[in-house]
Amino acid sequence: MSGFPKDFAWGTATSSYQVEGALDVGGRGESIWDRFARVPGAVADGSDGRVACDHFHRFADDVALMRQIGVNTYRFSIAWPRILADGRGEVLHAGLDFYRRLVDALLSAGIRPFVTLNHWDMPQALEDEGGWASRRTVDAFVRYADVVSRALGDRVRDWTTHNEPWCMAHLGYETGEHAPGRKEPAAALAAAHHLLLAHGRAVPVIRAHVRDAHVGLVLNLVPGYAASGSDIDREALRRFDGFFNRWYLDPIFFGRYPDDAIADRVQQGHLSSTTLPFVVDGDMAEIATPIDWLGINYYSRAICRGADEGNAPRVIAEPLPAQKTDMGWEVFPDGLAAILERVHADYAPRALYVTENGAAYATEPDHQGRVADVERVHYVRTHVEACAQALARGVPLRGYFLWSLLDNFEWQWGYLRRFGIVHVDYATQKRTLKDSARVYRDLIAAHTNPRSAR
Ligand code: FCB
Repeated sequence: MSGFPKDFAWGTATSSYQVEGALDVGGRGESIWDRFARVPGAVADGSDGRVACDHFHRFADDVALMRQIGVNTYRFSIAWPRILADGRGEVLHAGLDFYRRLVDALLSAGIRPFVTLNHWDMPQALEDEGGWASRRTVDAFVRYADVVSRALGDRVRDWTTHNEPWCMAHLGYETGEHAPGRKEPAAALAAAHHLLLAHGRAVPVIRAHVRDAHVGLVLNLVPGYAASGSDIDREALRRFDGFFNRWYLDPIFFGRYPDDAIADRVQQGHLSSTTLPFVVDGDMAEIATPIDWLGINYYSRAICRGADEGNAPRVIAEPLPAQKTDMGWEVFPDGLAAILERVHADYAPRALYVTENGAAYATEPDHQGRVADVERVHYVRTHVEACAQALARGVPLRGYFLWSLLDNFEWQWGYLRRFGIVHVDYATQKRTLKDSARVYRDLIAAHTNPRSAR
């Protein structure tokens, strides 16, 4: 395997609520995930992020682990309520200082910090005012982006506005599987729009504080495949792609929502007409503010099959009974190359990153303390190969981030799903490198220092 540029970003990723713990430290306010996790049944094991991986206190050790693995980049997020407890009032300097210390530790280890402003843990006080369904949250986010980029802009160049707006809007406001747990399809469309608008407005604000800023956003994209060549399955694929991928890509790159996907929403009764009630003049141009890069989080593909009876064809994203991870997601590395190539061909972002890719498997340490996560090793190797393939086909791919550095709080699954390349014993907080971490280390070494290639 070859063809990775010398300055390729080899990274791992985490997010604040999933790893930090220390929810009551430094005046941190309540986040929507603190609140949601208390709803009976919302999180499978009844857990929350109170302790998580205690990364807040152990970040120096975790940076040392990253050095051991040899990553040159670390993608992490800032906990919004650590900076603005209620989303609007005074700035919490203790929160900013924590991230300054983390960034300084990374820089002195030679690791490039890749910061995400919003990886889902927004202040509960903003949700109490309507959350992302309300246009007022846009201003709150832009102020937050201003505060953080002003404070860290002297040492962080790589900025991400949001992680996965689809998840926040759809799972948070439509199905209610994620915080804030609302089940209001119309609110979900407004939420998606306000997330996109907040992104577009934050881009120039970040650029104002950061020299040579490199600003983008992260979308979770899922390549769809029609279950058969039948018209009804091909129609299901179109609907899936419109709802899942193009609803976000088209506004960002073309400044408009896809007409066919709008019509689908009207048909479903989620919109009363094709005029989107939440769009104000000028919004679409702001959303399409050029970005420096796009991040793609890729885990699996969707097989699209149309229902053959009833009114609207429904999409059933149903993996074949092939190899699956503990999430039930099919292992399908070709989909990664496919989505990278497709986004490059259709939208031509200046640069692309795989900002998340990884697999949940529950492998525990054996009696000698070794974590032989064979399936994850296979997952990592084949997906890195898919990146090489995309590069060979001319995709401007600039980096790859494994999700995740550590086993951590996996949202509605709590601690029941382990994505880490480092095992965490939650009772003792002991970290153990899994085999996948060693394989990743060797892959990175082979590509960054050809003499160490095996
Ligand atoms: C993504 C999230 C990330 C993690 C992985 C498994 O959707 O961005 O926080 O939970 O899934």
